Amino acid sequence: MRVLGIETSCDETAVAIYDHHEGLLAHEIYSQVAMHAEYGGVVPELASRDHVRKVVPLVRDVIAAANMSPQQIDGIAFTAGPGLLGALLVGASVAKSLAWAWDKPALGIHHLEGHLLAPMLEDDAPDFPFLALLVSGGHTQLIAVRGLGDYEILGESLDDAAGEAFDKTAKLLGLPYPGGPAVAKLAEQSTGASFKLPRPMTDRPGLDFSFSGLKTAVRNQAEMMAKQSAQGVLTTEVKAEICHAFQTAVVDTLAIKCRRALTQTGYKRLVIAGGVSANLALRQRLSELASSFQCQLFYPRIEFCTDNAAMIAYAGCQRFLLKQADNHLGIQVRSRWPLSDLS
Ligand code: KG4
Ligand code: ZN
Repeated sequence: MRVLGIETSCDETAVAIYDHHEGLLAHEIYSQVAMHAEYGGVVPELASRDHVRKVVPLVRDVIAAANMSPQQIDGIAFTAGPGLLGALLVGASVAKSLAWAWDKPALGIHHLEGHLLAPMLEDDAPDFPFLALLVSGGHTQLIAVRGLGDYEILGESLDDAAGEAFDKTAKLLGLPYPGGPAVAKLAEQSTGASFKLPRPMTDRPGLDFSFSGLKTAVRNQAEMMAKQSAQGVLTTEVKAEICHAFQTAVVDTLAIKCRRALTQTGYKRLVIAGGVSANLALRQRLSELASSFQCQLFYPRIEFCTDNAAMIAYAGCQRFLLKQADNHLGIQVRSRWPLSDLS
């Protein structure tokens, strides 16, 4: 089974081909980051228009890179949600049109299922069941993953997602978009902070998260430090200290909840996926946690932590192998779509 995957849920246009015997045959990602950076965040209408420009050329490039013809593709998987409606519609329309033109089946894939299964693209892939910490721009969830489509949400963020908190902290400190990598890079310049930020919701039982209070604590700390400085502005050194304190607070909070979830489930495999799983401090901390639990830690390579089509082609391939397909020409996408709806 050879699957062409298309991802257009937010600000990356990505296309890939996955073969269930040979693995990943080709993949490409075009990031719109430079275009949105000017506005300090994703502008949905610009995102949709740029997907329109990029997706078909990328499909051509990926098919050429895999040295294949469209006849050698057995199915087309596309991200059907959650995400930006207009952006999703571009990928879904192209996928359905190609499926019709090539007479192949098409299938809409849940973006977060793609992220959850991304570690399966690596040589050292986890077996089911595993505990997954899904940390992206829009979601922070702890999930018991028992098999394909068998996902139980054990805990999730009640307000901001971890990635969103990174992005908002970056904006507050005047760092470029996307905030996660910028905050992580500046945090490296500090050896430690002279103050401590809260670890939200760790003082009560349960596996839910809340990051909006942390954002307020960062703002208050930044304002206080700006007032204390000679020019009334934050120096790079002080910003680095704030980034360090913020990143440590997020990593600690995530690690505390992972420890609880591992104890609760008794699982011996921990997967981190989604954009924030690219964070090296988080990987380091969870690797220490996993060793102390005699547990294995899995994460995708950095480029497959953030949005990509390899994960969509992979998830599509697993579902096509189970004979699943959307056998209609209708184009259905969902901006909101709970992961627990899948089966
Ligand atoms: O999974 P993703 O690419 O898109 C969504 O599905 O949301 O995640 C993007 C998020 C952004 O909030 C970005 O700031 C964050 O992942 N991110 C990071 C890092 N790289 C990306 N956060 C912390 N550290 C990083 N190195
Ligand atoms: Zn994503």
